[in-house]
Amino acid sequence: MSGAARQDWVAGRRGPLTGTLRVPGDKSVSHRAVMLAALADGISRIEGFLEGEDTRATASVFARMGVRFEAPAAGVRIVHGVGVDGLRAPDGPLDCGNAGTAMRLLAGVLSAQAFDSVLVGDASLSRRPMRRVIDPLQQMGARIASSDGLPPLRIHGARLHGIDYRLPVASAQVKSALLLAGLWADGDTCVHEPHPTRDYTERMLRAFGVAIDYAPGTAHLRGGQRLRACELRVPTDFSSAAFFIVAATLVPGSALRIERVGMNPRRTGLLQALRAMGADIEAHAVDGSDRDDAVADLVVRHAPLHGIDLPVEIVPDMIDEFPALFVAAACATGTTVVRGAAELRVKESDRIATMVAGLRALGIACEESADGATIHGGRLRGGRVDSHGDHRVAMAFAVAGQRADGDVRIADVANVATSFPGFDALAADVGFGLRTAGL
Ligand code: S3P
Repeated sequence: MSGAARQDWVAGRRGPLTGTLRVPGDKSVSHRAVMLAALADGISRIEGFLEGEDTRATASVFARMGVRFEAPAAGVRIVHGVGVDGLRAPDGPLDCGNAGTAMRLLAGVLSAQAFDSVLVGDASLSRRPMRRVIDPLQQMGARIASSDGLPPLRIHGARLHGIDYRLPVASAQVKSALLLAGLWADGDTCVHEPHPTRDYTERMLRAFGVAIDYAPGTAHLRGGQRLRACELRVPTDFSSAAFFIVAATLVPGSALRIERVGMNPRRTGLLQALRAMGADIEAHAVDGSDRDDAVADLVVRHAPLHGIDLPVEIVPDMIDEFPALFVAAACATGTTVVRGAAELRVKESDRIATMVAGLRALGIACEESADGATIHGGRLRGGRVDSHGDHRVAMAFAVAGQRADGDVRIADVANVATSFPGFDALAADVGFGLRTAGL
């Protein structure tokens, strides 16, 4: 978060990556689990909760509005839900830290409350576009003031009505904000997406007893429903596993087993992309996991990669995996072209600019375009790169360091704790050369 002490890493080659590991809980699912459990009637239990700064920020926001949480063990939360009419006015601004998901989904919840609230975030979140939620929420009757579409969001609680809305960009965050607001709205809320996005809000609303119809690309619910407490198990985060999938693919001699990875099809586009580039990844479904939201053990072995023209239609299914993919492309033979990914410019950093600048600093030829990049695979050399406080950029360059000819110094990595606390220790356990740099 903005207040975190500055930290740098040095990443360098050590040897093959081997062994078995398990990554932490899914960030998207953990945010939603806390939110819905807080709004439910009764006591919910969440297991596998991500103990990251982002998801803890969401829990703190609800605690500020009167929801009681118990944390009997790491990754476990007992949530004393207050019901859809039970939130209390907070006594000051609500801090979402670095978390875009928290701010956008909370905008939906808070627009419909009987009190006013203010959502704030760190320096990165304060630069991220919020009009995409403000506009449709205002169409539902919400009263939200912002500074030119940027945080802070000043929300004046209002009576909402349902909406039938076509999203201009594929965004699970916007879809989720509207569905959550729709819980309090008069009438029906119906959301259509230009490309199906992760459906965790829809699935979880159903798990909490809400009647909701959904299919890939659409979701529809009626306002005025209540949520019933339940028990939830959060799968591990495919986006965190992605760094190990790419690292084992790139480092000669590697063979890694990554256990119980969440395999929601709207998240796993990177597997398709890497396999098309020549990667050797086996997925073994774990018994008992349900068909559409399966969990699998992945076995990844080193394989040489070749560049591809990335199919535009898989971009939303791997939207968080581009920093890792860019590193894979830098180590592939030939050229990789990414298009249709302009959304990368408004993530925790401008991921097209930060990745292209970092890869160039490591000797890779690449060009930016408005909505993607062209990366000419080559030999990575050591050098200095800046993550710009972006957790996924930092971890992607830690992977790059495992293939580079010299050490890669990565500036500004403290925000890795937003999504993957303990990444450096886990990575070192399976053979990464990765240490904190003396500043
Ligand atoms: C998320 C949706 C995605 C993703 C983000 C988490 C979510 O953002 O990039 O990391 O939990 O709904 P968009 O919905 O804005 O594409």
